[in-house]
Amino acid sequence: MSETKEFPTLNKLGLLDKKHIQILDPGHVDHLLSTIIAGGFNKMQVIADHDRTLSRAHYNNEKTETCHGIMDNSPLMPPYYREEASKLLNKYYPIEVDPIMTEEEKTPHMVEWYGKIHTLLIKCGMSRTSIATMVKQSNVRLRDGTEDLFSKLKSKSVPVLVFSAGMGDILEEVLRHFNVYDDNVKVVSNFFEYDEQGNMIGFKGEIIHVFNKNENAVHESDYFKKIGGRNNVILLGDSLGDIKMAHGVPQPNNVLKIGFLNDKIEERMEMYKKNFDIVLVDDQTMEVCNRLIDLMM
Ligand code: TMP
Repeated sequence: MSETKEFPTLNKLGLLDKKHIQILDPGHVDHLLSTIIAGGFNKMQVIADHDRTLSRAHYNNEKTETCHGIMDNSPLMPPYYREEASKLLNKYYPIEVDPIMTEEEKTPHMVEWYGKIHTLLIKCGMSRTSIATMVKQSNVRLRDGTEDLFSKLKSKSVPVLVFSAGMGDILEEVLRHFNVYDDNVKVVSNFFEYDEQGNMIGFKGEIIHVFNKNENAVHESDYFKKIGGRNNVILLGDSLGDIKMAHGVPQPNNVLKIGFLNDKIEERMEMYKKNFDIVLVDDQTMEVCNRLIDLMM
């Protein structure tokens, strides 16, 4: 049988035979997609990572900034912060994306990295009012088509959880800046605590790093209960740790995991194909999600 007939939904969405779209088990994904489409918008929710998932990994041959990067490169931050944060990034980011180390091996390094960054940030006493300027001056950009995707999700009242190991205050400002922070969108991330003058003095709650996205705030809250009945999930991530973001969704569920592979492509391909249903290789757009949503409109 030809692939077109065998995988009708993948075919309808134009996801077959594209080099940058990798699918290990097309039969399973075709079935998952048709279940999600048949369920309609009332049964759907979206769970998305932020840095390098909602936001682009690069633009005009330049790496774009993550939430942390926005602060690391901001002229509003003291030079000692920028120097130290960049040294820490050079040391710990290669560990985060190391294709050989296990998550268990990586986790203590992540905890150490976030601890050091948080101590450093607290020393800087940055003010709440500087955040909007930092975002405006940065080169952060959402993937092409994100605004369109969010506007369709809002129009169909589909809840979107943005779950990030970045900096919540910066992330919220990025979403506001690009006009996608509507009332169907909830952000779970690391949020600053401020004193009465609006100076940052610490962090609220437990640290969220890339590999503990199953263990914190959102899973202890009633978020998933409140949106009960939405058991069809589109999960978007760029890190293997992102797969855990849907762990709180009640069973039985249908989670379509879409992974953006932006970096160390060859080394990580097999791992991504095993863990994400659809792997999008250096795709800086939301085209695949938009096609799926358009098919349901
Ligand atoms: P996210 O993908 O969950 O939004 O994760 C945040 C990213 O931020 C993750 O890839 C690690 C990165 N990061 C920095 O770029 N700089 C830092 O100082 C820290 C602590 C993390």
